[in-house]
Amino acid sequence: MNEVHTDPIWVQLAYLVAAVLFIIALKSMSSPRTARSGVLIGATGALLATVVLFFSGIELLNLGLILGFLAVGSIIGWVAARRVKMTAMPQLVALFNGVGGGAAALIAVVEYFEVGSSDLLLLIFTVATVIVGSIAFSGSIVTFLKLQELMTTRPVIIPLGKWVTILVAVGTVAAGIGLVVQPQDWLLVLLLVLSLIFGVLFVLPVGGADVPIVISLLNALTGLAVAASGYVLDNVLLLIAGTLVGASGTLLTNLMAKAMGRPLTSTLFGAFSGTTAGSTSAGSDRPVRSASPNDVAIMLGFASKVILVPGYGLAVAQAQSTLRELADLLTEKGIEVDYAIHPVAGRMPGHMNVLLAEANVPYEQLKEMDEINPEFSSTDVVLVVGANDVVNPAARTDKSAPIYGMPILNVDQAQQVVFLKRSMRPGFAGIENEILYDPKTTLLFGDAKDSLTKVVAALKTV
Ligand code: TAP
Repeated sequence: MNEVHTDPIWVQLAYLVAAVLFIIALKSMSSPRTARSGVLIGATGALLATVVLFFSGIELLNLGLILGFLAVGSIIGWVAARRVKMTAMPQLVALFNGVGGGAAALIAVVEYFEVGSSDLLLLIFTVATVIVGSIAFSGSIVTFLKLQELMTTRPVIIPLGKWVTILVAVGTVAAGIGLVVQPQDWLLVLLLVLSLIFGVLFVLPVGGADVPIVISLLNALTGLAVAASGYVLDNVLLLIAGTLVGASGTLLTNLMAKAMGRPLTSTLFGAFSGTTAGSTSAGSDRPVRSASPNDVAIMLGFASKVILVPGYGLAVAQAQSTLRELADLLTEKGIEVDYAIHPVAGRMPGHMNVLLAEANVPYEQLKEMDEINPEFSSTDVVLVVGANDVVNPAARTDKSAPIYGMPILNVDQAQQVVFLKRSMRPGFAGIENEILYDPKTTLLFGDAKDSLTKVVAALKTV
């Protein structure tokens, strides 16, 4: 496929349209109001680019195979995306991202044999694509396994891990340079193996709560690999799309690291230096105060200001509409109600915004962390619905906690705190939450949707 081929002008124009669609899609996805149309616009761009390729006059070998795999891939993608629960979206993103990185690496391997040693820059880009694509592939698979809890979500520390990783990194770079200087098949195999191992070593020490940041980083890496393969294949659209993914992935990675209150380096290398150790707990035997839905309804009914804190459990229980019903009821009673949105509540960026938008919660009621935090001290009741880590004060006080340094919602400053959860099990980071034992805290045990339904029913009689 790599003999010199210049696309006809109409093809170049179509690619330009697709690139513009990608940019509009990204822009639209930055707000829940326009996100859905953004996804469709992006998909239209991708479809246009794919269809145009078939009519561009480029020589397509193995057309039957290409169409067959396109069909199989489309069906798998369609079914997976239809079936996935919203709470499992990060795993799916990790998997799709890994596939993208792997595809870029495989294309680069094939191209490597075609490039020859005459074009040095092309050779460097090809080798770089093999490295980056392979790292994105194996790293994404490990993040998938962690998020799907098919392996431990805790940091995995291997003996002398730091040194082994450095050694593998040096080996990868050396093999890459070797390949550029003196193309040899066995070096290419070595490069592939070392890059794949590096991807695994890179992600293993990252603790559960930090995995989303790493997914975003790997996503940016896949973007870079795709952009580099665009250069290798002389395809401007791949170059643009890859650069967009690389740039937006980098921005998202930074934003998430900021939301978690830590520099990216400590997320990635913290476990090597032992700073993400943290203590795990599945709940202690200390007494807690639990209450009935009736009690909670009375507390809420007599409040003048209530803040609702949604978290991952709200998404699991699919209780967003019932939560809105509760908020509407409280508002009707003249009680001031706000939703406090933590940037990493749930399991993906913007998870709570999307969830609450689904339930048609007015945007004005959603308050970001910085805006709502000063409000807690003047709030009568905070209702924490399936959230845990994002309100855990260990983030402020416990240096050994994996969430240490992450800014949290200051719910402990309110007069009363009510937690809706099913048990004393900890949240994603696997650590005890001291507020659960605070005398001003009340626990309403049960599935969030079930509990909220009962609270709503009881509130109607208060
Ligand atoms: P978590 O700390 O994970 O706490 C969720 C809570 O929901 C748990 O305490 C759980 O307790 C409860 N729960 C689960 N299912 C429930 C149900 N059906 N009904 C009622 N309660 C239920 O959630 P969070 O506070 O939203 O924090 C998010 C965490 O995920 C952070 O550590 C964050 O770093 C991490 N993370 C975030 C993202 C992004 S970007 N948002 C992505 C991946 C991971 P029970 O089991 O006792 O019910």
